[in-house]
Amino acid sequence: MFVYKEIMAELTDYNHIRLLKPIVLIGMMGSGKTHMGRVFAKKLNQPFFDSDKLIEEKAGCSIADIFERFGEQKFRTVEANTIQDLIKQGHGVIATGGGAIMNEDTARMIFDKSYSVWVQADLDKIISRVSKNKNRPLLACENPKDVLKKLMEQRQPIYEKARFRMQSDSGDETESVTNTLSDIRAVAAQEAKQ
Ligand code: S3P
Repeated sequence: MFVYKEIMAELTDYNHIRLLKPIVLIGMMGSGKTHMGRVFAKKLNQPFFDSDKLIEEKAGCSIADIFERFGEQKFRTVEANTIQDLIKQGHGVIATGGGAIMNEDTARMIFDKSYSVWVQADLDKIISRVSKNKNRPLLACENPKDVLKKLMEQRQPIYEKARFRMQSDSGDETESVTNTLSDIRAVAAQEAKQ
């Protein structure tokens, strides 16, 4: 009886489960993907990648400069390649730019080859976060709130395909990450049995 109890405890404690796919965070600009991504990576002791940051490092200039000098289309091509290469590495935590899921191949890879997490936040919270940062060319306009609303309408049906969802503005971020991680581990445990 004691041994049975011990084994059951071990089977229901998913902490030992090794994740065989990366965790990919999707969601609107300013929803908190980068911040949450770092918290996930630290908890898992895995590397953290931010697609925008990697693109800026590769290009040697800011996202705003890339939009201005080369146009959005070129940015989207580099973004798709960067994220797809990261997913192919098969591990780590990846924060993606808010529009990345509009590329069909990238979206397919995210939903098929990673634990996808939609990071959600209230629109007002998003506005207050993005207004502090000038490196978002799509919002360099008269009414960024209207732009964000429109983008959200277009993107929501795709964000909704994420396997997991988390709120980044619910107060206790560590608790949100811990809960999402335990959901991910439960799914990973199921997958390991298949
Ligand atoms: C964009 C989001 C940005 C960045 C670029 C375009 C978008 O990333 O990739 O400015 O289309 O939503 P964050 O979501 O990290 O702000």
